[in-house]
Amino acid sequence: MNTPEKLIIFDTTLRDGEQSPGATMGQADKLRIAKQLERMGVDVIEAGFAASSPGDFAAIQAIAQVVKNSTVCSLARANLRDIEKAGLAIQAAPRKRIHTFIATSPLHMEKKLNLQPGQVIEAAVSAIREAKKYTDDIEFSCEDASRSEPEFLYRIIEAAIREGANTINIPDTVGYAVPSVFGEFIKNLREHVYNSDQAIWSVHCHNDLGLAVANSLSGVHFGGARQIECSINGLGERAGNCALEEVVMAVKTRKDFFNLGCYIDTRQLVPASKLVSSITGFPIQPNKAIVGANAFSHASGIHQDGVLKARDTYEIMTAEEVGWNTNKLVLGKLSGRSAFRQRVRELGIPTKSEEEINEAFARFKELADKKTDIFDEDIQSLFDEQYTEQQN
Ligand code: KIV
Ligand code: ZN
Repeated sequence: MNTPEKLIIFDTTLRDGEQSPGATMGQADKLRIAKQLERMGVDVIEAGFAASSPGDFAAIQAIAQVVKNSTVCSLARANLRDIEKAGLAIQAAPRKRIHTFIATSPLHMEKKLNLQPGQVIEAAVSAIREAKKYTDDIEFSCEDASRSEPEFLYRIIEAAIREGANTINIPDTVGYAVPSVFGEFIKNLREHVYNSDQAIWSVHCHNDLGLAVANSLSGVHFGGARQIECSINGLGERAGNCALEEVVMAVKTRKDFFNLGCYIDTRQLVPASKLVSSITGFPIQPNKAIVGANAFSHASGIHQDGVLKARDTYEIMTAEEVGWNTNKLVLGKLSGRSAFRQRVRELGIPTKSEEEINEAFARFKELADKKTDIFDEDIQSLFDEQYTEQQN
């Protein structure tokens, strides 16, 4: 079998993630997150936007001094001052990248930048030329690419690669793309850009329509992108970015489909999610895929019975492999006898007969109709009462 091509995981929790209103992080917190990302095996850590504030500059510098195994990256607009700040901030890192960007959609070029297309290309090219003074690892992004004219994208991307950009990132900046179209969009760009094979193609999708993960996977599978930009818990501007834990587990769980090498230590996903949540104060919704408290909890009797017989009846991946201690069988009014019996065993409650279990189970069902949370103490007391009654 062929060795699968590597998928590069580029994390932007510390940059796009911090653009999430209310998610400002201090330097010490950023360092803790960067170390966790490195421990997890993230390939590229976008540590911040050096020119945006002295605090961001200092945080990137601090991260560049300690992170050894991941590439440390700073964002920079396509101007000389931003590039210089980015270059200086990442200087100490053994592996360093400058990520420069400029908007390429007619709307952004005209209304926001007030630049002609030719001037946009010139700005991109001079930014890349300047960035090469600091590092050989240069990423160029066409902001609002999914609403840009393909013909203009061909021209600017070809010029960027000629100048030395080795990663070309195609952002769906406003989360406007739909999966089948986005994958084709990337494929078409790669086919038309004459020097496309001299760069790694990347996708950066926002979640305004809840499609960031699907669009990213389509960009990879149908478009041939080999880098996904994502963030822990999907933290990011507005509705957020593609969630790292979701794309990583999709690629690993459906390796049969994607056939890509992804070298993230998935047992670090839940710790990373909890760390980011506690630092930002953004709670994780219980039904969030992979890292939500209910992601590996089974409540219905039919499911609990199935999981007790064979976990893969209702689990496509294990709780343990993403960093939870175990899956959970939640006892409530929907639970069945199998889960009840299992919990009784786990609690070490001595039972004499199947009849005792059956009687306690009937009482449990009555209780569960009245009470949403059934604690271990409740189960214990069902047997205490039963015992007491028998004694009387
Ligand atoms: O969403 C976006 O377009 C960005 C770029 C700076 C890559 O975050
Ligand atoms: Zn973004």
